[in-house]
Amino acid sequence: MTTITQTNTSPPANTAASPLLELRNVTQVFSSGPIWKREHNYAVNDVSFSLTEKPALITAVAGESGSGKTTLGRIMLGFQRPTSGQVLFSGKDVTGMRGGERRQYRRQVQAIFQDPFSVYNPFYKIDHIFTVAIARFKLASSSDEARHLIEEAISGVGLRPSETLGRYPHQLSGGQRQRVMVARSLLLKPQVIIADEPVSMVDASLRATILETLRALNHELGIAILYITHDLTTAYQVADNIMIMYRGHVVEAGDVEHVINDPKHPYTRLLVQSIPMPDPSRRWADMRGVNDPPFSDVEVTQGMCPFVNRCPDALAECAQDVPDTYGLDEHRISKCFLYQNAGTVPNADIAAYFNIRDASPSNVDAADNM
Ligand SMILES: Nc1ncnc2c1ncn2[C@@H]1O[C@H](COP(=O)(O)OP(=O)(O)OP(=O)(O)O)[C@@H](O)[C@H]1O
Ligand code: SF4
Ligand SMILES: [Mg+2]
Repeated sequence: MTTITQTNTSPPANTAASPLLELRNVTQVFSSGPIWKREHNYAVNDVSFSLTEKPALITAVAGESGSGKTTLGRIMLGFQRPTSGQVLFSGKDVTGMRGGERRQYRRQVQAIFQDPFSVYNPFYKIDHIFTVAIARFKLASSSDEARHLIEEAISGVGLRPSETLGRYPHQLSGGQRQRVMVARSLLLKPQVIIADEPVSMVDASLRATILETLRALNHELGIAILYITHDLTTAYQVADNIMIMYRGHVVEAGDVEHVINDPKHPYTRLLVQSIPMPDPSRRWADMRGVNDPPFSDVEVTQGMCPFVNRCPDALAECAQDVPDTYGLDEHRISKCFLYQNAGTVPNADIAAYFNIRDASPSNVDAADNM
């Protein structure tokens, strides 16, 4: 295996973009087991990046099950306080927010979940999720105004208010329920949407509609979107940039076209090939000592590359140290020793390497679906 050598790193393209929701060195450890045999699961491991307001982009987070995607999203939503590191919204640490400030953060950063049914109370009509949001955030001063806002939001996601309001959750299809959740976000006009596997439980025909709606929310209203998925195809369709996670680490990130069409990190390559297995012709003995004990998950996250026990390209040093984050070009970083000559990215601020799309209205091609 040849180590790719690049002597210099291009400067990041978007250091001037203003961070809106920012993670700084965020780590989330879940501990389990008895005290004398405690196991520490690094669900999110020293992740730093930000979603920007101008431009507002769609950033996908992809990786296999258990890679830390949902935990990352929950931390950004403020549902989970990280073990260490900071979450900043408009420059303010969200852990210190109280009262109106906290309410504002809650309004501005909205969630769309994988299973919309679990979000609904089956005893309340669909109207309830809208009226509660309107009351909580004081969005209307009369019931007529509230009704108008609700109907506008429902129409905005391609549903008919007359066929949606007045019904119970079980009277809508899964796709309709998911679109109602998108409509709720639309009503609140947030600055950020964290969408965690929003289309994995709807059928293919509705998948495109929901994804187009998300794109329109981003392009038309300037809402920054974190699109969490295990599906690289939809990530490619909808996102501007992508972060690939493996065991809590962001192992590759950057412009979605570059990452999917020309993956650099060995894990991304495996994901893109849809073969989540190392090269079977390559034996353990080729990569490390035959008598070495097998790695446990915990050991792997400490002191070595988290992917070393599955990597077809592993070098000797991969089991001795954790790779830094290297800047391969102005729109790509990778956390892999193969690129160690490319130059370390300071503070692992990977969002500075994201590609900035021209967000002018002429680029809007999803408006028809609004
Ligand atoms: N509340 C919790 N307590 C303990 N461990 C947790 C908790 N939440 C998540 N984990 C663990 O953290 C790791 C990351 O989980 P997470 O749900 O973030 O992964 P994911 O990438 O969203 O997976 P999936 O694609 O299956 O949704 C997993 O090993 C999981 O078991
Ligand atoms: S750093 Fe990790 S991913 Fe890169 S070659 Fe080594 S084991 Fe493979
Ligand atoms: Mg998840």
